[in-house]
Amino acid sequence: MTSTMPANAKPTVELVVDGTARPLPVVAASEGASGFKVNTLLRDTGLVTLDTGFTNTASCESAITYIDGDQGILRYRGYPIDQVAEGASFLEVAALLIDGELPGAEALEAFEQTVGKNASLPDGFGAFLAALPADGHPMATLAAAINALAAWYPEVVDPRDGAQVDSATAMLLAKTATITAALHRRRTGQALVAPDASNGYVADFLRQTFGDAGGEYAAEPVIVDALEKLLILHADHEQNCSTSTVRVVGSSNATLFASVAAGVNALSGPAHGGANEAVLVMLEKIRSGSDTVETFMDKVKNKADGVRLMGFGHRVYKSYDPRAAIVKKSADEVLEKLGAKDELLEIAQGLEQIALNDDYFVERKLYPNVDFYTGLIYKAMGFDPAMFTPLFALGRMPGWIAQWREMVNDPATKIGRPRQVYTGETERDFVPVSGR
Ligand code: ACO
Repeated sequence: MTSTMPANAKPTVELVVDGTARPLPVVAASEGASGFKVNTLLRDTGLVTLDTGFTNTASCESAITYIDGDQGILRYRGYPIDQVAEGASFLEVAALLIDGELPGAEALEAFEQTVGKNASLPDGFGAFLAALPADGHPMATLAAAINALAAWYPEVVDPRDGAQVDSATAMLLAKTATITAALHRRRTGQALVAPDASNGYVADFLRQTFGDAGGEYAAEPVIVDALEKLLILHADHEQNCSTSTVRVVGSSNATLFASVAAGVNALSGPAHGGANEAVLVMLEKIRSGSDTVETFMDKVKNKADGVRLMGFGHRVYKSYDPRAAIVKKSADEVLEKLGAKDELLEIAQGLEQIALNDDYFVERKLYPNVDFYTGLIYKAMGFDPAMFTPLFALGRMPGWIAQWREMVNDPATKIGRPRQVYTGETERDFVPVSGR
């Protein structure tokens, strides 16, 4: 493969197949890696590209989120993540991701009101939730609940109708908070608390989750701020596993609800969003004495039974995850302000110290990711570990929606349908069971 132009200005690259040069058009990035298009390669050469795990394949052009994994940079619509996390509210970030620009004061208020008006669950939804086991994993219930919204609101499911998509967007942002709070209350055997958006999105989510039977809850500003920040840090992360899932499902013209529910399921795995719960399980195991920090790290390095240091490593970040740096600071502040000194935080810090100075992790460029410290904050807030990944889903909702909408409005979108390199049997004759 040769490039016909100097670096940073490549209108085409050439792929030489059997001595014939095939020009492939380059799509220039505004920042980061440009890509070359291979759509016609099979037709022209009989070859497909093979990229297991999509480690080098761009699935779309996107103007939403930029990551530079080597330098630890994350920006939403051009705004650095630390500035956004410091200065914006979660719904402001949702508007930014979905619309492309920061909303003015009036537009933000209107957006907050639209979302707020959609917070209640429809008639019969409580009974639907109650039909699922209260102690089942809340990610399973969350995916089912989001999927089921399409059954309750068939009037807003057309992906090509902008007004319907706007309604579905407001519903998903609002009702995911209400449903997530309900998951906690069901796990803890408490009656649900109705939403009251006048408290603000995050404060009301906490009130629905932790309020008393009458819905009374004294919001602790440090907790509201920390949760607002955590939701913002999770709001989008370009073409990760769950977001790609949302796009692929949506590319079949499936509803926004169906697409996002698929994203929830993709997020549930421990290699993705489920890592925040897995980190806590790992720390608890070390605390309970089955391993010391040192013996556990030996197992990780020896790859004993596939043991991994959960909350470490990332497909894109090859230096410190910028979200993890903000989360770590927030963990220190929250735990200190709540007086919730946690032995698990010390274990986590011990693991991190070893990892940052150990050749195994240094050579593989493995650093803490966003999930390494989040669980400790959620735990201090009163969530049990099974609720950590639903909280991630709540935060990721604006990103999934923004990416889905970008996909639907992109004229280049085609149904997501990868090729394969077939390595099975070639044709052979069927043998009846009596002859096998
Ligand atoms: N602990 C120990 N070793 C690791 C870890 C880890 N957490 N992560 C990667 N490695 C090692 C691999 O064993 C491999 O070693 P090798 O070269 O000797 O074979 C090397 O580092 C590269 O790892 P890959 O699995 O090829 O990296 P990939 O980009 O495919 O995986 C992933 C990224 C899934 C995040 C991985 O680092 C991991 O499993 N981490 C733990 C789970 C986790 O925290 N997930 C959350 C990710 S962030 C998010 O989704 C919000």
